[in-house]
Amino acid sequence: MTLSIGMVGTGWFAKVHADLLAGMEGVKLAAICGTSKDKADAMARSYAAQGYGEITEMLDAHKLDAVYVCVTPGAHGAIERTLIRRGIPFFTEKPLGVTTEIPASLLQDIQDSGLLTSVGYHFRYQENVQRLKKLLSGDKIGMVVGQWMGSMPGAPWWRDQERSGGQFTEQTTHIVDLLRYLAGEVTEVYGMFGNRVMHEKHKGVNVADVGTVSLKLENGIVANISNTCVLPGEVGKVGLSFYNDRGLLDWNPQRLLETREGESQEYANTGNPYVTESEAFLQAVRTGDRSGILSDYADAYRTLKVTCAAFESAKKGAAVKL
Ligand SMILES: NC(=O)c1ccc[n+]([C@@H]2O[C@H](COP(=O)([O-])OP(=O)(O)OC[C@H]3O[C@@H](n4cnc5c(N)ncnc54)[C@H](O)[C@@H]3O)[C@@H](O)[C@H]2O)c1
Repeated sequence: MTLSIGMVGTGWFAKVHADLLAGMEGVKLAAICGTSKDKADAMARSYAAQGYGEITEMLDAHKLDAVYVCVTPGAHGAIERTLIRRGIPFFTEKPLGVTTEIPASLLQDIQDSGLLTSVGYHFRYQENVQRLKKLLSGDKIGMVVGQWMGSMPGAPWWRDQERSGGQFTEQTTHIVDLLRYLAGEVTEVYGMFGNRVMHEKHKGVNVADVGTVSLKLENGIVANISNTCVLPGEVGKVGLSFYNDRGLLDWNPQRLLETREGESQEYANTGNPYVTESEAFLQAVRTGDRSGILSDYADAYRTLKVTCAAFESAKKGAAVKL
């Protein structure tokens, strides 16, 4: 059976997912919905799909098996609500929103209806993250330190807190999500953020450009995750390190380094986690077996709660308990 798929969004990541879907057997990207029909038509031509400017028109015209939602963080809400009402499984890119309010009410409806969902925390599907999870099992983790130190993306929405949620919620969310996936649930956060450089360099920047967040986990682990977007494009540091009495496990998106008990081993990355995450979602749509989905809406909501609590804590100047 060929799955008929719809896409909401016509930007960079909608195209990344559309290209992957186009290369898969038994899948047809049938319809694309954008902020205007013109934009949707322009993208749809590359995939022999139909373009729409309204999601309801797209859903009325096609019997879709699932929809991918690849929109800016501040645009979440009405799209998912429409899909939930019509009972259409969806995959959505992270983060679920810029604050927890709308996602909390969507989560309630998703749980009431039992709708199938999946969220784009693709690092969970990386072979090295699965290896790391195995290496950590049985270890008593001492502490975890992570970071997303990079440059500022060019998209105007990214630089606006109301539309992106800020770097910690939009980008560093991947590191927070990995912390939860690999080390446990977060119970308390204390965030500090600052606007050092970027608002003076570029117009329309109101997101913090530096920040550090201390986190306490329910199992007693303490962690720190920091981020900045002040760097020039050519340098950066993204990753997560686990420290315990056997040594150090140091992960970054390119490789995993195990340095324990006097020995060191490096594991390079293989495979494409974006393909694995889509295959897991589509397999669930086809068969109803959700076991391959490593991040659903409920799980991703817990990651959003942590990142939003970090901003709330910074505003209060005090730790926030979750
Ligand atoms: N998982 C990853 O590695 C990864 C990488 C990049 C982006 N993303 C996520 O993907 C999402 C989109 O990012 P992007 O880089 O494609 O941004 P982009 O600016 O290239 O595209 C955003 C798109 O959203 C569309 N949009 C906004 N509101 C809409 C609405 N109501 N209906 C239909 N379309 C709407 C815009 O028209 C645009 O096409 C973001 O949440 C981002 O965090 C994830």
